Amino acid sequence: MRVLFFDTHRFEQEFFLGANARFGHELEFLEARLTEQTVVLAQGAPCVCVFVNDRVNESVLRALADGGTRIVALRSAGFNHVDLKAAAKVGIKVVRVPEYSPFAVAEHATALILSLDRKIHRAFFRVREGNFSLDGLIGFDLHGRTVGLIGTGKIGRVMAKIMNGFGCRLLASDPEPDSRLIQELGLSYVDLDVLFKESDIISLHLPLTPGTRHLINAEAITKMKPGVMLINTGRGALIDTRALIGGLKSGHIGSAGLDVYEEEEGIFFEDLSGQVLQDDVLARLLTFPNVILTAHQGFLTREALTNIAETTLANITALEQGADSPNEVRPDTHVMSADTRRATKG
Ligand code: NAI
Repeated sequence: MRVLFFDTHRFEQEFFLGANARFGHELEFLEARLTEQTVVLAQGAPCVCVFVNDRVNESVLRALADGGTRIVALRSAGFNHVDLKAAAKVGIKVVRVPEYSPFAVAEHATALILSLDRKIHRAFFRVREGNFSLDGLIGFDLHGRTVGLIGTGKIGRVMAKIMNGFGCRLLASDPEPDSRLIQELGLSYVDLDVLFKESDIISLHLPLTPGTRHLINAEAITKMKPGVMLINTGRGALIDTRALIGGLKSGHIGSAGLDVYEEEEGIFFEDLSGQVLQDDVLARLLTFPNVILTAHQGFLTREALTNIAETTLANITALEQGADSPNEVRPDTHVMSADTRRATKG
């Protein structure tokens, strides 16, 4: 089947080309993101393959259907950017990669924690400039600290195991508690307010839905322990970024490690180094010495990319052959559509 990729990056092409030796699809790679303006490029493509910052709202889906597209294959786990009701209405099937490497994301969250704690980002530049002073680089032992995990699904569970290895006390909040974590790691499920109050580090591993948008807002931040470290490898809009900036300015938030940003669309995955950054909120965030921002690279390991490529192409083959794909996402799955997300932005 002809598969047209939007928002393709060099780092992923080799994995798709390698995996396709087994599937034999006709792959075509576009750098453009899928938007209302670029959807015309998909005319006649039975399948389009999109990533997290492509726009898959009602008008784009209608245009895709009019142009003959029948499958939207997401090369991501998250599907909050897709209007699933609209997809069903126009007869487009949507498939995703529910799991590719929970280790990749949990290990990246851990890298953010260690870098912030031991000030590796500052030490790196300091030493290269011949400054071998240690002033301002004091960290804390992770051992004995309390880590609060919001979401203990596939990634949160791996994170719990890693943090347990450091000797941390584990608190968690999840509407679907995992009894294995309670038994094996001594993790305790607590109310969110208790997690906010007692955690030295809070790490977000839950999906973005209408109910979780801005879960971390000004009110939540005031409930947190002064000096708390906040880690977000989930989705940007889980955090109200303006409230986060307020918390960082007052010192209530001790540090933040962010792999996602609520306005990342059009910024992350692009080389904008020759341009003036137009997003003032992001620009302010980048001024803090105690903030590390990475551009949505939690998934970026060889293992994860291999799994993403193989699962995406297998999903397409299954639908092409008329079989049900276990990775199909349907409207009854409760998610926030791209349009709802835009309409509810503060
Ligand atoms: P998962 O579906 O296995 O786990 C999510 C967990 O969150 C579930 O246990 C669910 O019950 C829980 N949850 C739902 N609503 C909640 C709430 N209000 N409070 C607390 N917990 C809640 O998903 P997985 O694979 O662990 O991924 C988590 C998120 O990580 C994804 O939704 C995605 O947005 C993000 N992600 C980020 C990546 C990156 O590159 N930075 C890559 C892959 C995923």
